Amino acid sequence: MAISIAYLVAAAFFVLALKGLVSPRTAPRGNLLGALGMLIAIVATLLGSGILTFELIIAGLIVGALLGAITAVRVKMTAMPQLVAAFNGFGGGASALVAGSALLAPTALANVPQIQASISTSLSGIIGGLTFAGSMVALGKLQEVFEWQPKRPLIFQIASGVLAVTGLALAVILIYDPSAHWAFWGLLAAWSLVGILVTVPVGGADMPVVIALLNSCSGLAAASTGFVLGNTVLIISGALVGASGLVLTLIMSRAMNRSVPQIVFGGFGSPAASRLDDADTYDGRVTSASPEEAAMLLESAKLLVVVPGYGMAVAQAQHVVRDLANLLEQRGCEVRYAIHPVAGRMPGHMNVLLAEANIPYEKLYDLDQINDFFPQVDVSLVIGANDVVNPAAQLDPASPIFGMPVLEVSRSRAVMVVKRSLSPGFAGIPNELFAMPNTMMLFGDGQAIVRELIRALRE
Ligand code: TAP
Repeated sequence: MAISIAYLVAAAFFVLALKGLVSPRTAPRGNLLGALGMLIAIVATLLGSGILTFELIIAGLIVGALLGAITAVRVKMTAMPQLVAAFNGFGGGASALVAGSALLAPTALANVPQIQASISTSLSGIIGGLTFAGSMVALGKLQEVFEWQPKRPLIFQIASGVLAVTGLALAVILIYDPSAHWAFWGLLAAWSLVGILVTVPVGGADMPVVIALLNSCSGLAAASTGFVLGNTVLIISGALVGASGLVLTLIMSRAMNRSVPQIVFGGFGSPAASRLDDADTYDGRVTSASPEEAAMLLESAKLLVVVPGYGMAVAQAQHVVRDLANLLEQRGCEVRYAIHPVAGRMPGHMNVLLAEANIPYEKLYDLDQINDFFPQVDVSLVIGANDVVNPAAQLDPASPIFGMPVLEVSRSRAVMVVKRSLSPGFAGIPNELFAMPNTMMLFGDGQAIVRELIRALRE
């Protein structure tokens, strides 16, 4: 009874955590509530199992908390997608292995009907294997341990189809004959290979969407294992992760104006695959300016909108951007920040960076809120953003990003674009914004250029 109540409390904390995570302001509290719910769930489960002592539980908590804290402090913000990939993979792998060990130790299944146990064990093996192997490939690609052009050879398609069907056939054998443990390990291996074959050809920059999908899968694997063990809190938390991961995947792919099957099976998204000859594309129409020239324009600006993108994360320019904004605000200029939902390489990437630099949330504006404002904006300062400000999304039906909502910076009086070259962004396409008459390009590393702007303004 006490254990069931603890599970209920933990589940309530999980729901409150998700509610808190919907806004950057309440996210830290949501995070804390989620962690508290997880602590209650872990302690209740370990106490309920009756085989562990308090000493062991506390020792486990200390080791886990230490490892988590060290990782959280050491991992770089730009490496966050890799960390999420690793967590998803371990979650999926652990769920599959727990389900497998429950097969070997049937006492764990005592309270669960046989048919429920065998179906959910098979599902855990299938989804867990896919999640683990797919996440490890995603991690390797994001970390640039290996590269693969986003092409899906026919042999991959045939092999993954055959393996998927073989895995399903083994699941049927396991359901009919739960003593056929070999079928479980077979289906786990088959679907792990499917995970590898499906993830390897996905374009590197598309990987975050795949990671969100794998995150959803890791939740489903955990929920299946919850059915194997008859553990309510695992079923609830797994279902919450599965559903929220799926919603996130859909939001991300919609904001990129593509469908999930296109991303997972299409092989789009390698910037390297579509590099352009910059000089030919812009044909000398680009105006480049020095930080001194840009500072003169900034001096007279009354309303400035900063548009951060992936390059700001690479340059780690968020702190100097805040210093620049403070300086301009002291001189009577209003500064706002325009946040595109897919700017950067993970959901909320820009929000996290700006929060790190203590930029107040009130100054952050979503795409829908800011777009109507641009005609009144004196200067739009685009830092390391490219695709999210590309007018081709609205003007060129042949463009791969056509239909994606973008920040309409070209409608402001002047646009300053800070980036190192005319190279394309993630989508690998040219950006006419760079050649517009009201745009000046400030070529260089984001952090260095903003420092130069501050220096020029002070002088
Ligand atoms: P991108 O279009 O990828 O452009 C980033 C730009 O940053 C590049 O053109 C690059 O130009 C510049 N850059 C790189 N390092 C820099 C540095 N040190 N200093 C200054 N500039 C630097 O970025 P975006 O506008 O943020 O758009 C994001 C793209 O990623 C979208 O196409 C989106 O669909 C995709 N995507 C997003 C997500 C999520 S969830 N956010 C997930 C998957 C894909 P240079 O090389 O010339 O400097």
